[in-house]
Amino acid sequence: MANYLVTGANRGIGLEYCRQLKERGDTVIAICRSACDELKNLGVQIESNIDITDDASVNDLVHRLKGLHLDVLINNAGIIEERSSIDNLNFESIRRQFEVNALGTLRVTGALLPNLKNGSKIIIMTSRMGSIEDNTSGGSYGYRMSKVAVSMAGKSLSLDLKPKGIAVAILHPGLVQTRMTGFSGITTSESVQGLLKRIDELNLDNTGTFWHSNGEILPW
Ligand SMILES: NC(=O)c1ccc[n+]([C@@H]2O[C@H](COP(=O)([O-])OP(=O)(O)OC[C@H]3O[C@@H](n4cnc5c(N)ncnc54)[C@H](OP(=O)(O)O)[C@@H]3O)[C@@H](O)[C@H]2O)c1
Repeated sequence: MANYLVTGANRGIGLEYCRQLKERGDTVIAICRSACDELKNLGVQIESNIDITDDASVNDLVHRLKGLHLDVLINNAGIIEERSSIDNLNFESIRRQFEVNALGTLRVTGALLPNLKNGSKIIIMTSRMGSIEDNTSGGSYGYRMSKVAVSMAGKSLSLDLKPKGIAVAILHPGLVQTRMTGFSGITTSESVQGLLKRIDELNLDNTGTFWHSNGEILPW
């Protein structure tokens, strides 16, 4: 039984992480802006009113979790906005995606480092859309660029934190049926089963790897 913190816990993949972790007997700290009934009914610890783009909000979270040891920090919160094409670049939208996907993830991770110790794990939920080699269709500037950035943060974290005994995985969940995809793809249940296998197998020898939830190693 271990302590898992999950951001973006109120729906989609984050909610399913909470459900499966709770079911297998782990302790879950669910982070969200606003808890839905489904999350409330899980009976996990909920920390709401946390916006990962806001320093004061994340400082509040640090205060609330002071002294709590985390075995696994799952940075899952993210957004996609399809509002930019090469003919119509929308820098407001691109900036928002950087703020949440890249900077928000790094802000939460940096702030909660005191809660991690030798043997802890950090999970960066990135996307295959952030793979440069895999990009054969172009577009999606804000989402793709912000996910490349967060994958790079994950790689640096893996190198910086290895001496402290903390391992880092950079994970793609697959194309998953959530609000983000218009509910197309595999079920959240199937995706999270694979993601939890990757997390369970993560160690200091394979730290810094970019995996698909199905176990495939993805190209950068
Ligand atoms: N679904 C896929 O096929 C797919 C594929 C590749 C990667 N991913 C990645 O997997 C992760 C989860 O995606 P999902 O499909 O489950 O998406 P989702 O259903 O849209 O859920 C996104 C979650 O992120 C939270 N969030 C967004 N902005 C936030 C902020 N500023 N502060 C705190 N929380 C915030 C949302 O909270 P609110 O409810 O408050 O908005 C929500 O809980 C994301 O990082 C996504 O990029 C998903």
